[in-house]
Amino acid sequence: MPHTPAPAFDKPHLDEFINELAVMLIWVDAELRVTKLNIMANHILGCKQSPIGQSLFELFPALADYRASLVETLLKQKKLSLSQQMLDYGDRTHPCYVTVYPLLSGPEALIKIEDLSHQTLLDDMVIQSEKMVTIGGLASGMAHEVKNPLGIILQNIQNILHRLDKTAEKNIVVAQELKVSLDEINRYLEARNILKFMDNIRIAIDRALQIIATMLNFGTQNPIHMKNENVLELIENALSFVEQDYDLLHSFDISRVKVNRDFPIYPIPPIVCSGTQLTQVFFNLIKNAIQALHHIPQSEITLRVIDQPDAVIISVSDNGQGIPPHLLTNLFKPFFTTKSREQGTGLGLAVSHYIISENHHGTLTADNLPEGGACFTAVIPRHPC
Ligand SMILES: Nc1ncnc2c1ncn2[C@@H]1O[C@H](COP(=O)(O)OP(=O)(O)O)[C@@H](O)[C@H]1O
Ligand SMILES: [Mg+2]
Repeated sequence: MPHTPAPAFDKPHLDEFINELAVMLIWVDAELRVTKLNIMANHILGCKQSPIGQSLFELFPALADYRASLVETLLKQKKLSLSQQMLDYGDRTHPCYVTVYPLLSGPEALIKIEDLSHQTLLDDMVIQSEKMVTIGGLASGMAHEVKNPLGIILQNIQNILHRLDKTAEKNIVVAQELKVSLDEINRYLEARNILKFMDNIRIAIDRALQIIATMLNFGTQNPIHMKNENVLELIENALSFVEQDYDLLHSFDISRVKVNRDFPIYPIPPIVCSGTQLTQVFFNLIKNAIQALHHIPQSEITLRVIDQPDAVIISVSDNGQGIPPHLLTNLFKPFFTTKSREQGTGLGLAVSHYIISENHHGTLTADNLPEGGACFTAVIPRHPC
């Protein structure tokens, strides 16, 4: 039997083909040796050497447990369906359905192996997004809980500062009763930097309260609410979310990445948009850029905003490896990812594209920079029709 040549697909088409039609058909003889393969099986199994003539169990050692049932299938001409199997091929383990069809023409069988990786990924996605909803709810619950004690600390700091005020009547009266000098108390506090420490606490709490307010706003799944927003503020919010992103913090030293801001020097007019959704888009783009800088020394991202009369253009670029040209058209497809399961879901760009094009009538495009690295550009019209 001649060895069917590998199909003449280029890699991106083939990847698509594999995702959509990952069914291998393998014909075996009475000794369970491979006699024929469909294109998919040939492509997947025939990379190193032709599988023709090899034993089925050499190709899939996991099936050796079913040797007796397979032989029986051939002898009794009875279809055999195995429960979900984990088969090793390519460079990883795949969840598969295996069905064995005995052929009427003789002691031969056709083995159908359906790769369920794509389906499993979809299932994982659904579970993941369910989890996200739960976590979103928990996070806003926690944010509410934390807001109260922070508010109490802030109020008490303000009380302390007020009670040290040399000009407040009540303070003067109490100090006189106790025969202490408010001036001297204040001089001591200043000399020991105590007032500065208290001010630091106040500033930190203010910042924490601001983060919580943004989180509460971000966490709510309100119907899309378009209003005037300051794009620069949305970008800063997104950046601070990325800096707090749990997954990223545990896999990457974000402080290594230099963040350049190329913003107009004048205050740009607000745009009508959904602040929550655009924050999500900027979050996705910045997170991707940082993930692309994993092994890059002197890594940088550049956030650029160009203000035009009819639109605001926002770009996020990095000095990573860039995007292989043949992948440029696939990036925005749902579930397209080149990352491991822990690192990526393949949904960030798909969702971002949807938000920009459907909800803001703008465009989101990807490109490589001539000097290396990727650049994602969102054009958001000021007056969406
Ligand atoms: N800044 C970037 N540099 C290089 N590749 C990128 C960049 N941003 C996105 N990509 C590519 O696009 C794919 C899809 O991105 P995305 O939709 O955010 O999903 P995920 O990040 O979960 O993989 C990534 O897996 C990666 O291959
Ligand atoms: Mg992403």
